[in-house]
Amino acid sequence: MTDKYQATSMRDLLCGSVDRTVIGQRISVCGWVAKRREHGEHLAFLDLRDRSGIVQAVVDGSVDVRSEYVVRITGTVSQRPEGTLNDRLATGEVELTDCVVEILSAAEPPPFQIDERSDVDEQVRLKYRYIDVRREKMQRNLRLRATVNATLRHAMERQGFCEVETPLLWAPTPEGAREFVVPSRLHPGEFYVLPQSPQIAKQLLMVGGFDRYFQIARCLRDEDLRADRQFEFTQLDVEASFVTQEDIFSFVSAAVLDAAEVATGERPGEISTMTWAEALDRFGTDKPDLRFAMDLHDLSGAFVTTQVKAFSAPTVKALRVPGGAEFTRSRLDTLTEHAKGLGAKGLAWFRITSDGLDSPLARFLSSDESAAIAGVDDAQLGDLILVVADEYVTACKVLGALRLVIGAPPVSQGPHHYVWITEFPLFEGVDEDGHLVSAHHPFTMPHLDDLEWIESDPLKVRSQSYDLVLNGWELGSGSVRIHRADIQSRIFSALGISDEEAQNRFGFLLGAFKYGAPPHAGFAVGIDRLVAIFAGEDNIREVIAFPKTQSGTDLMSGAPKNITERQIRDLRLKFAPKV
Ligand code: AMO
Repeated sequence: MTDKYQATSMRDLLCGSVDRTVIGQRISVCGWVAKRREHGEHLAFLDLRDRSGIVQAVVDGSVDVRSEYVVRITGTVSQRPEGTLNDRLATGEVELTDCVVEILSAAEPPPFQIDERSDVDEQVRLKYRYIDVRREKMQRNLRLRATVNATLRHAMERQGFCEVETPLLWAPTPEGAREFVVPSRLHPGEFYVLPQSPQIAKQLLMVGGFDRYFQIARCLRDEDLRADRQFEFTQLDVEASFVTQEDIFSFVSAAVLDAAEVATGERPGEISTMTWAEALDRFGTDKPDLRFAMDLHDLSGAFVTTQVKAFSAPTVKALRVPGGAEFTRSRLDTLTEHAKGLGAKGLAWFRITSDGLDSPLARFLSSDESAAIAGVDDAQLGDLILVVADEYVTACKVLGALRLVIGAPPVSQGPHHYVWITEFPLFEGVDEDGHLVSAHHPFTMPHLDDLEWIESDPLKVRSQSYDLVLNGWELGSGSVRIHRADIQSRIFSALGISDEEAQNRFGFLLGAFKYGAPPHAGFAVGIDRLVAIFAGEDNIREVIAFPKTQSGTDLMSGAPKNITERQIRDLRLKFAPKV
């Protein structure tokens, strides 16, 4: 009997661990009937499944058990007869014989086949999630998630971090997504806000002298759902005092690399860093997928005096697609449409052939321009060069997106390539009211070399914020925080946040800062995304026990739902007619 945690008062072993070492012993196992096969009139084979796997039992054919019945089988572990061994099963050398079967619970036929081979509609899987999670893959994914959580927690504790739970019923936090609000019964007309993150609470804990805080924290955001976004998700949330960005990298790397090692069996090397500006320039995105090369190349210099109208733009960027000369015209048209959808005026393409460049635009190019295109990234015969001429950011982003469409391997394909992206701009742009918008949140410390531009040239100001990126996914974000009132008030006024609004939204944090705020910085890792990549899943729903659908519903419980008249009365709610 191998695993000391297997035995209970009802069973001796888990199904998946019945093996040669216990041949001859009489044991009890419990589980769900995965399959029943008749063998003549008086004999049936049952595959019994629990969380650990499957074991075969040879039972009396008259026993009335069917698929998904819950049973306890007591039998003798026996060597399977010659020729009946199943090397696809861990327990395939043995079977239980002389069995006594006790039915613990009868079951209706399940709404779908519980095996990895059947392709079941996701709506049905979500409606019957409690059955879906019986499947081996879901068991594996949710257990992986538990192991990752335990490893992250252990790594933070080892580094002197203290886990503190922060409120779910609270006041607005600064991440900027739409919030879920909860009406207060005791204070009619007033609302709690569910936290988008523990951001303010963890900064208050720094003022409170906690020095190193972490939490495996539930966060809630009412935003459009996507493959990597749910309303509810979990962060490894971290904050520390008297630290720099590099200290945060070291704490978070230790935890994430420990988790990677446990999840994949291999410890990744040290995580490199890249500035935001370099990531945009080379990969056209702030979350570069570094599993494959295909860097973007700048050809602007070769086109300064171009006669070709399509290329007269501030920036001309090119991407070499190895072997891409064989792309069909229709694939090139699709890529062109994609580029236009992303804001480009068009997409130029050039096949590298033994007769030179093959492209509708080739004959308009000067020989220097042709040479520049043919020389992109040491292009070879059979390659394709894609070119976008536009404003700098548009040219980079469009080619960066095409790079992914053409080159990105599926999520399940390794290697795992982590990178810290640093020096994000402090402001990501200007909103419809002409106000600057924070790239991260308003408490992010500007780069100290750029303070002078906050008022005069704000879009040029770099911040001390950083992301952790894995295979093209943003795994997490963080920043050094502003702990000086003078800088904070300059940032609020740049963002168009009045003193009154700042007091209203964040007054308790600003108030706390008056009582001695240490320099501090932090980070949050999205655990759903981390586990999804470890599990090779391209949607985080696959690593969440009870996720919401794309349209934000829970098909199993029916949420969101009406509440009772009584609840409506207690909360003094009134509904506007539907529009
Ligand atoms: P941010 O908003 O970037 O930073 O969130 C950090 C990480 O949380 C994950 N994440 C999500 N995962 C699933 N579904 C969502 N809707 C979702 N939204 C975010 C991502 C993301 O990188 N308070 C700051 C952190 C800090 O500055 O310390 C924050 O929450 O993986």
